[in-house]
Amino acid sequence: MSTGAVSEFAPAKVNLTLAVGPAGADGYHPVDSLVVFADWGDAISVGEGDGLSLQLKGPGARSLESEPKNLVLKAAYALRAAVERPDLSASIVLDKAVPVAAGLGGGSADAAAALRALARFWELDLSRKQLAEIGSVVGSDVPACVHSRPLRMTGRGERIAPLVAWPGLDAVIANPGVPVATKDVFEAYDATGPQILACTPPPAAGTVEQALDWIAAGANHLQPSAQHLEPAIAETLKALRALQGCRLARMSGSGASCFALFDDERAARAGADALSATRPDWIVRPVHLAGAVA
Ligand code: C5P
Repeated sequence: MSTGAVSEFAPAKVNLTLAVGPAGADGYHPVDSLVVFADWGDAISVGEGDGLSLQLKGPGARSLESEPKNLVLKAAYALRAAVERPDLSASIVLDKAVPVAAGLGGGSADAAAALRALARFWELDLSRKQLAEIGSVVGSDVPACVHSRPLRMTGRGERIAPLVAWPGLDAVIANPGVPVATKDVFEAYDATGPQILACTPPPAAGTVEQALDWIAAGANHLQPSAQHLEPAIAETLKALRALQGCRLARMSGSGASCFALFDDERAARAGADALSATRPDWIVRPVHLAGAVA
């Protein structure tokens, strides 16, 4: 076992596009989503402890469900079970910045970072692919978050294809402070008569303009149903679209967080400042959405 503490960043996930088909026999919906990760997120650190324990801190800690439902502990137990080592112990600290039930993969990103951190701490010889497989039982977005790089996510979320060429993008993430349950949004989507899942693979080349054109041609199929459930989402999109230099605004995941894309970091920062000034009650962050490293 490793002697020193281990830390892992849990970046917020953004679904640039999200196509959703009709639910299968297991109740889950097939998805096709282009997923990228922000330079804003939570932090997981792991050190020596008795058994498995979780301590929460940071601005988002109060909003979290505590043990034993927390996805971080679920992931830790799943990892121990997968390697058949119930003796492994660790004390885990989650520093929470990203809001939960926000469409930013908060809980999934934490679970994924916990898997990466614990695998290092316990010196388990597991690939990212193996960790993603273990994470898929914890939540549909966990495999994508284990990889934490630009990727196309299909199946129920467990099929991952990293992009080989994708540019970094500058964005503003805005959350109106209302939690939205993923399950409720999928149910509302079912009631509208789900769309046929037809998608074009992301472009192979990687300029910002090509990426923006491709994203604009896509959609988030859950957005109309989520807006219907939670009107604050429509308000958030309207406010983002009104920002100077906003190229496109869309909801991420099942909401309520939305993102706006800008030409560069300066424009995104100016947009975030303007929105924070008018909506001090919202969570507003300028972020860089990392590109694929060739
Ligand atoms: O897998 P996870 O626990 O994150 O999913 C939360 C809920 O979202 C599921 O219970 C299901 O109702 C819905 N879901 C779905 N299809 C997916 C992913 C999630 O219907 N591909």
